[in-house]
Amino acid sequence: MKKAYVKSYGCQMNAYDAARMADVLGAEGYAAADSAEDADVIILNTCHIREKAAEKVYSELGRLRVLKAERRAEGRDTRIVVAGCVAQAEGAEIQARQPAVDVVVGPQSYHRLPDLLARSRSGRVVDTEFPIEDKFDHLPARRGLGPSAFLTVQEGCDKFCAFCVVPYTRGAEVSRPAAAVLEEAARLAAGGVREVTLIGQNVNAYHGAGADGAPVSLAALIREVARIPGLSRIRYTTSHPNDFGDDLVRAHAEIPALMPYLHLPVQSGSDRVLAAMNRKHTADAYRRLVDRVRAARPDIALSSDFIVGFPGETDADFADTLTLVRDIGFESAFSFKYSPRPGTPAAEWGDQVPEAVMAERLAELQRVLDARRHAYQKSAEGQVFDVLVEKAGRHPGQVAGKTPHLLAVQFDAPQDHIGRIVPVRITEAGANSLFGALLPEAAAA
Ligand code: SAH
Ligand code: SF4
Ligand code: F3S
Repeated sequence: MKKAYVKSYGCQMNAYDAARMADVLGAEGYAAADSAEDADVIILNTCHIREKAAEKVYSELGRLRVLKAERRAEGRDTRIVVAGCVAQAEGAEIQARQPAVDVVVGPQSYHRLPDLLARSRSGRVVDTEFPIEDKFDHLPARRGLGPSAFLTVQEGCDKFCAFCVVPYTRGAEVSRPAAAVLEEAARLAAGGVREVTLIGQNVNAYHGAGADGAPVSLAALIREVARIPGLSRIRYTTSHPNDFGDDLVRAHAEIPALMPYLHLPVQSGSDRVLAAMNRKHTADAYRRLVDRVRAARPDIALSSDFIVGFPGETDADFADTLTLVRDIGFESAFSFKYSPRPGTPAAEWGDQVPEAVMAERLAELQRVLDARRHAYQKSAEGQVFDVLVEKAGRHPGQVAGKTPHLLAVQFDAPQDHIGRIVPVRITEAGANSLFGALLPEAAAA
């Protein structure tokens, strides 16, 4: 039996696409391989967001070229596919830089993989169109589901932040019709999924057509998803501060299945930098939004993204970011050095911040963010949480799961607990995950 391996980089959208590419090849008779070494078709599902992410692809391809040549010497065929956002942005360059690549396919056309693989037998193939047909209508049933699954509801971005490639790699904002989302969610539930994360580049800009053709908001969609039997937990990511309506704030107060965790990227705490970034909101507008969300759901865990060293960022601007971080107290966060990306406006600007300054600012920001994250993890000790058991743990006899606030927990429990939601007392906060003890009533249940 032929085997396929998909390696995914980047965001949740890519993770979802990777799973769907595996579904597409699964329907063609390919089994899932555990590694590239083991696979006949190797797909790199790439990310273009920062230079490092994009360059990783070329070093990985160098390794795969050797593997492919060794196999060819043994008379065995290997197909190498580059998918995702680097494929979309640099299709031609990939082919020029790495002749071992058989297929380049963009994020909107991977439903055509079987055809592209067939065509690649007579020459290299590139498909980076934004096709008229909707890939979701052409994807087979999902396989290999665990207790928690992503569900793409919205793709693309019209915001054009000055630093970001996504509007170019993923195209314009498009929402899937509500019925299509609900049908996929119901199928996930029927397949044993307990938690669904609705994903989109700007998921709260969701405005898919409802049954009567009128647009449905993300909050309304969440209410519908919450009615599906078996789905106990709903999450969504990533949201943009400017699309955060009152109905979504209220949803956090009113829908028990909507989990108390919110990833809400702010990027900077300086109004000057926010304006230059084209984020179209101020630091205070962000503070007020967080106040509203916390009033609706006081225990909500907040997460964010930050960029340090955006062109023109001064020490005073950076100090504003630290002030915002201290004011809000993010429970978790991702922070990055600004990376100039080809084709984006900010990459052309003259006032680039020196690498050493960026490194210093990043270290300082991360010290502040980490201190708060550790304190938050520590505050979980002694508390009892409902934990969705997702998989086997690191050690035999252990399982791993997540609290409603998306904290990872390891604890001893039988493997048949995977897929269940059980009460766990947190006994110790480690560096990256919590350790806990299954409460006896659940063990007996
Ligand atoms: N759609 C989401 C985020 C998409 S990209 C949003 O609007 O918030 C994920 C994160 O990568 C961004 O939030 C930003 O912090 C970071 N990022 C994007 N482009 C970057 C660049 N050129 N350099 C450094 N970080 C970047
Ligand atoms: Fe990129 Fe901005 Fe769109 Fe987010 S909102 S994907 S950061 S352009
Ligand atoms: Fe990367 Fe594309 Fe996602 S650039 S962050 S994989 S949308």
